[in-house]
Amino acid sequence: MSETSQATESRSYPPPEDLAAQANVGPEVYEEAARDRLAFWESAARRLTWEREWDTALDWTNPPFAKWFVGGKLNVAYNCLDRHVEAGHGDQVAYHWEGEPGDTRTLTYADLKDEVCRAANALLELGVQAGDRVAIYLPMIPEAVISMLACARIGAVHMVVFGGFSADALASRITDAGAQVVITADGGYRRGAPSALKPAVDDAVSRTEGVRHVLVVKRTEQDVEWSEGRDLWWHDVVTKQSAEHTCEFFDAEHPLYIMYTSGTTAKPKGILHTSGGYLTQVAYTHWATFDLKPDRDVYWTAADVGWVTGHSYIVYGPLANRATSVMYEGTPETPHRGRWFELIQKYGVTILYTAPTVIRTFMKWGEDIPAGFDLSSLRLLGSVGEPINPEAWSWYHQHVGGGRCPIVDTWWQTETGGHMINPLPGVTSLVPGSAQVPFPGISAKVVDDEGNELSDDSTGLLVLTEPWPSMLRTIWGDDDRYVDTYWSRFGNMYFAGDGAKKDADGNIWLLGRVDDVMNVSGHRISTTEVESSLVGHPTVAEAAVVGASDPTTGQGIVAFVILRGNAEDSGDELVQQLKTHVAKDIGPIAKPRQIMVVQELPKTRSGKIMRRLLRDIAENRELGDVTTLTDSSVMNMIKDKLPAAP
Ligand code: WTA
Repeated sequence: MSETSQATESRSYPPPEDLAAQANVGPEVYEEAARDRLAFWESAARRLTWEREWDTALDWTNPPFAKWFVGGKLNVAYNCLDRHVEAGHGDQVAYHWEGEPGDTRTLTYADLKDEVCRAANALLELGVQAGDRVAIYLPMIPEAVISMLACARIGAVHMVVFGGFSADALASRITDAGAQVVITADGGYRRGAPSALKPAVDDAVSRTEGVRHVLVVKRTEQDVEWSEGRDLWWHDVVTKQSAEHTCEFFDAEHPLYIMYTSGTTAKPKGILHTSGGYLTQVAYTHWATFDLKPDRDVYWTAADVGWVTGHSYIVYGPLANRATSVMYEGTPETPHRGRWFELIQKYGVTILYTAPTVIRTFMKWGEDIPAGFDLSSLRLLGSVGEPINPEAWSWYHQHVGGGRCPIVDTWWQTETGGHMINPLPGVTSLVPGSAQVPFPGISAKVVDDEGNELSDDSTGLLVLTEPWPSMLRTIWGDDDRYVDTYWSRFGNMYFAGDGAKKDADGNIWLLGRVDDVMNVSGHRISTTEVESSLVGHPTVAEAAVVGASDPTTGQGIVAFVILRGNAEDSGDELVQQLKTHVAKDIGPIAKPRQIMVVQELPKTRSGKIMRRLLRDIAENRELGDVTTLTDSSVMNMIKDKLPAAP
């Protein structure tokens, strides 16, 4: 394997000819969007079915509060279901759902429409009205999608809380959003065992006011406490409803959902998304970025519906485009490490979308595992969540994609709703490690602290200079915080919070959150760049780098590495080798002060490394909040390995 990193990456992969010849979009989309950005988004909006067309594409008279497709009316659930059934596609599979224990459910578009109508009727019976908030705290089962769409259908605002979050997190979100109904389950399956959900809901609801009903799906048959009158079984309340529901059409700016972002500060931020612009951009990007062919593809976003990737690319984008999707309840290693590859083989998955952290885990487990399955159905791969280092890119390309599938690396955020910076598979020559160019109709720049545009590899900040259809509209209940967090730094530009640089070819390289940019002796060094270099070394499977305060240099670089299965930990000798490797790769200034070999890294449930906690360790501090970690014992394991601070 070659030892490349962001610093030295120079490979480029042109689009496969057959894919380019039949691609949904070609190079003309960039020209169209450059000629008239608003007209471009208007034509994307026309891929949806509107009950009334808009009068104005964009109202930006009161920035940063955008209104898209003003005067337009549509129903999001109608666009995801009814219109496909009406067009004769009712028998097409919407989801091949697979439970972790291996149980399955197949839902056609007609089935899903019926289920959603029943759930919508049930919510109406429970007194839920348009604009009311409904909390959803479910495992990855079809009822999660059904509940979201039932809310959308009646104009209620859903607020999905990831099933792995604590009762605390759930309570604060229920309170902030003012939810009146909670939809949950007795439990879900995780790592081979039923894991309870209802107790967390009971705990959370007891600490909040205003929740009238808890609707409970039976999944694991675990014993549950029951609060008479408040708690209702899904199979009692929903199943008996009529499958007929005539939907109402809502304003394009009608709120669709609130999604809380994983907290850096104490109070979570409720990101608000609305209807017309959001659905326009997620549907169009899903179709263009993944070259989705509804009659042929089997599409799989291997993520949880509890975060934005699930909302936009498991639910709304794929359904609006009439995709056939795979949905999987469990973890990649249950009951064996080949589970994902087995599912790809079983359902003939053609497009797979996942996160670099998963790819690196697969790398750690070894290429023999994917080699044991027939993955020849795959034609396109996607990546999201963090920069994909070129080593992981190459591994994904070769061992999952068989060297033939383009990889689309998509940069976006909970706040942006949909893809913002990414290659297009039939157009862009891929450069591993870079998310490359702004999506057509999106204006992104790299600027310095004063907001001046930078190019030529200078490190700066990523900003979005024009409003986009699926942008957040505000932070729920806190317009000031919305303005403050995203728009106050540069006044007229959206500050994404990411460091970036733009190379001479116009490719944008994302360098991690700006709080992850280190300052060592006055030099700005990205944690990502050092991590990328480390995983470029043949012994390293995964790396996390933090800047720890240092009396002489401002910050010192501290690295935590996990070795590959076959690599030998030779102690000091290996550490020296790795330090030299980074120094050679990026420059002596990037040489880590400390490198620690560890077994695990602390990660959030959406797969992000919690650098904040590693920084606490590197700086010998009391550990901060660990409630969003997948496994809090990881931190003790790491602490035990820690040598005395220098
Ligand atoms: C990071 C997930 C580099 C980035 C959709 C962003 C990425 C944050 C990429 C948003 C990518 C996401 N390359 N960095 N392809 N995708 N990020 O809100 O730091 O969970 O600001 O949304 O993830 O994370 P969020």
